[in-house]
Amino acid sequence: MFDRLKFDKKNEEERQRQLESLQNRLYDAIAAHSKIRETPIFTLPNEEDIMEIEKIQIPEEGRNAIEVEEELMKYVFSKQALLQHPRFFSFVCSAVSPYSIAGSILTDLYNPNAGSYSLCPGAGIIEEKLCKWMGSCAGYPEDTCSGIFLSGGSISTMSAIITARTNKLGEYDYPKAMAYLSDQAHSSVRKALRMLGFRTDQIAILPSDSEFKMDVEKLEEAIFKDRCDGKIPFLVVGTLGTTNTGTIDPLSKIGDIAKKYNLWFHVDGAYGASSLISPIYRNVSAGIEKSDSLTWDTHKWLMQTYSCSTLLVKDKQTLVDAFVEHPEYLEDVSSTDHIDGWDKGPEMSRPHRAIKLWFTVQATGTHLLEEMIEYSFYNAKIVLHELEKRDNWQIISKPSCGTINFRYAPSGLSLEQLNELNLNITKEINKTGFAYIVTTTLNEMKTIRMCMINANSTTEDIIETVELLDKIAKELYIEVLNNK
Ligand SMILES: Cc1ncc(COP(=O)(O)O)c(C=O)c1O
Repeated sequence: MFDRLKFDKKNEEERQRQLESLQNRLYDAIAAHSKIRETPIFTLPNEEDIMEIEKIQIPEEGRNAIEVEEELMKYVFSKQALLQHPRFFSFVCSAVSPYSIAGSILTDLYNPNAGSYSLCPGAGIIEEKLCKWMGSCAGYPEDTCSGIFLSGGSISTMSAIITARTNKLGEYDYPKAMAYLSDQAHSSVRKALRMLGFRTDQIAILPSDSEFKMDVEKLEEAIFKDRCDGKIPFLVVGTLGTTNTGTIDPLSKIGDIAKKYNLWFHVDGAYGASSLISPIYRNVSAGIEKSDSLTWDTHKWLMQTYSCSTLLVKDKQTLVDAFVEHPEYLEDVSSTDHIDGWDKGPEMSRPHRAIKLWFTVQATGTHLLEEMIEYSFYNAKIVLHELEKRDNWQIISKPSCGTINFRYAPSGLSLEQLNELNLNITKEINKTGFAYIVTTTLNEMKTIRMCMINANSTTEDIIETVELLDKIAKELYIEVLNNK
């Protein structure tokens, strides 16, 4: 593995000693990592740290590897937001499974290239099996469905749009094509459309309904009108678990409209698709089987390290039609009896991201994963219950996929005052270091958003966090009254 070091004859022994020591230090780092609960949630580098990092130059001569590792620990890994902490309730992030880390280390060590099936057939089979299992959770037929592991939800959805474009449009139709999404769709959908060259007037953003769901009547009206105006509707993107509120769009109705008007139906389940593992919550997403493709980020709810997203398609041929190329230099390593990774997605060389998920699913088993998903739904309901017991808390979005939005809203304050108050509540709780929470904006209201999909968050963590929010809110409200 370290053959290259043979160039460094004069330091060979010293290098070897450092590498052995480094190996032991990595074992120690893995052991220490299991104490994540005791580690501060968010530590930023101070000015001195920043100056020290800035001082480090790209060296002409190699440095002591232990020194480099120490620097990384001191200035990088210990000075960051610890998204895996059980009381980090922001964004969409969960615990990281130790099996994912093990799978990741092994994948990095052997570094198989996932471009072609024939370069590492075992890993190719694993990827295909996982795609079939995940596809079957979405109700896709096992014999036709397929998928590919990609870096994240953004690239996965962009690949889905490319697939939709190839399968629904002729090349000369592109300037007239129309895509439909709700105002709660993730920004990556708009970004992907723009990156693919669609103009902003080709992206119809429909206002969502009072529950933050896609309004299907507005969707049908917009498609109908655009067709009358000579435009070519080709894509609708629904969301399973919106980022703001965890809401699930009415997938079945969207599927029916997509079929009626011959649109590609993509579901962005980057966040919420993991709920399909639970038979209880699979029902909540009934109709997902009507979709043509699905984004599913396992680096969100399924405890994978970055980056691990899956794009699933109901019909594998649709992916091949969108991505296949036949360069002469890949002929000898292209497969005849399997679809190669480079023929199913935008990447040529690619890490075998499926291996870490495989390790996790094999070592954990689906029953425990189901329980973990259901526990997140339960924890969001606990927040609702705790808030309902207390005065002045207003629920803005009901618990869904482990997320809930609420605000402290005593009467007599203006919208601006309430917005400032709620922003300050999150700032104050973050200062305590006990939990990390940020706000979002829904219908012009600043809301406190808690996303509870970390398998290590206990119900006590949740209750204590609400208690602390309530205490801070009361104190800040008194200050507002005193300053009036
Ligand atoms: C619903 C949804 N879609 C897409 C994304 C983007 O995923 P990624 O950050 O993996 O690109 C996110 C990220 O939070 C998301 O919540």
